[in-house]
Amino acid sequence: MKDKVSVGVLVSGGGTNLQAIIDAVNSGIIKSAKVELVISNNPGAYALTRAEKNSIKTAVITKKESGSPEEFERRIIELLENAGIDLIVLAGFMSILSKNFTDRFKDRIINVHPALIPSFCGEGFYGLKVHEAALKKGVKVTGATVHFVNEIPDGGKIIMQKAVEVHEGDTPEILQKRVMEEAEWKILPLSIEKISKEILGE
Ligand code: GAR
Repeated sequence: MKDKVSVGVLVSGGGTNLQAIIDAVNSGIIKSAKVELVISNNPGAYALTRAEKNSIKTAVITKKESGSPEEFERRIIELLENAGIDLIVLAGFMSILSKNFTDRFKDRIINVHPALIPSFCGEGFYGLKVHEAALKKGVKVTGATVHFVNEIPDGGKIIMQKAVEVHEGDTPEILQKRVMEEAEWKILPLSIEKISKEILGE
């Protein structure tokens, strides 16, 4: 039996959530998993540099080079399976995965979303847009959610949530940073540890 769950992280951008995962492995908050592979759909993602700095294998798969959405996903699946990945973490991955993909890794894909699902989620709600919508609505509390990924965008079972206060005068950028610091960077590593422990106990 494996002593640690092999995690593959899918990213598209800055990778601060990836960094939080790496830090949590280094500090021992994550004990039951290791990050084996980071895959980006964006060759310019700073997340790739963060992975390289920590000697984690990286790969870039773009939709453009793949020619079709099916081939894009087939290439990602091939990499994940060849690396023996047990748990896939979407950490700021800005591409919606098909049912074919999510069915293949049932209960083995988790995502961090920067709002309290079911608020401000689903197709079109990603990155700063989520915080713009929360501010426009005038909510006083927002937060982050980690959930399993199925074929419905942001529709899978909720694993953890954390609330964050909205302050008077917040801009989407300020709110995004507070949600990351107070919620995402905490509940994503904790969720990875929780699910990994469950996988190891199966
Ligand atoms: C994070 O806020 C993450 O929750 C969000 O994008 C940001 C990525 O930042 N993800 C989504 O909106 C997915 N629907 P990062 O690259 O610095 O981790």
